[in-house]
Amino acid sequence: MSAFHREKVLSVRHWTDTLFSFRATRDTSFRFANGQFAMIGLEVEGRPLLRAYSMASANHEETLEFFSIKVADGPLTSRLQKIREGDTILVGRKATGTLITDNLLPGKRLLLLSTGTGLAPFASLIKDPDVYEQFESIVLVHGCRQVSELAYGEQLVADLHEDELFGPMLNEKLVYYPTVTREPFRNRGRITDLITSDQLFDDIGQAPLDIETDRIMLCGSPGMLDDLKQMFEARGFLEGNHSEPGHFVIEKAFVER
Ligand code: A2P
Repeated sequence: MSAFHREKVLSVRHWTDTLFSFRATRDTSFRFANGQFAMIGLEVEGRPLLRAYSMASANHEETLEFFSIKVADGPLTSRLQKIREGDTILVGRKATGTLITDNLLPGKRLLLLSTGTGLAPFASLIKDPDVYEQFESIVLVHGCRQVSELAYGEQLVADLHEDELFGPMLNEKLVYYPTVTREPFRNRGRITDLITSDQLFDDIGQAPLDIETDRIMLCGSPGMLDDLKQMFEARGFLEGNHSEPGHFVIEKAFVER
């Protein structure tokens, strides 16, 4: 049995010069927990060329969605960015990853902190009804350099608000907080600074960080992850994993450089 499924591309959407997303068929045997990733890619010269990608779709959806950067000289993304409807992609049979709610201790507020394509696993998690059951509130933060890079997340949240099932859940529990660092926008600054200064919590009208109630998932650039991990550990938060749940969990956004 091959290590991956061959799936058909159903649609591709280009968001900016450097960001695109695509949908593909999903083999009925492909199972995952929301927030996990799998190896996906293309067959190049008869060989699989694969990279880790978080599923941006939720596990109740019939099709798969991925959110990717485009790197001009990236071995995979230079090719993947050219896929069209009807093309074949490879999807590894095994999904894995630490950004799952089972790796977190029980809590009241879930902070989903992302930069760039690190949003992808959270796109999956905010489409999981169980997450809304487990937490009283969910704060989705997405940090980017430019406003245009927020488009995928803006659309995702807008679509979910329109959804019959998720609309009411989002209204009750989800706060979406996009922030931009390199041009004017209503929310500005790095996630690290927004938390240290309490600006994030002031802006959304919620209580500041509290180890008793807050559980955190981090996904983004290595620098952002290092800084946030240090910041949370300095406040006593413990990192969780499959063997021991904690206050926060981390996954790096799988960026091809
Ligand atoms: P900045 O513009 O100040 O570097 P990148 O495109 O480099 O992955 O960055 C995505 C977003 O993450 C940008 O808004 C960037 O801010 C921010 N960022 C980069 N490094 C860090 C860090 N160490 N801590 C917090 N935010 C960061």
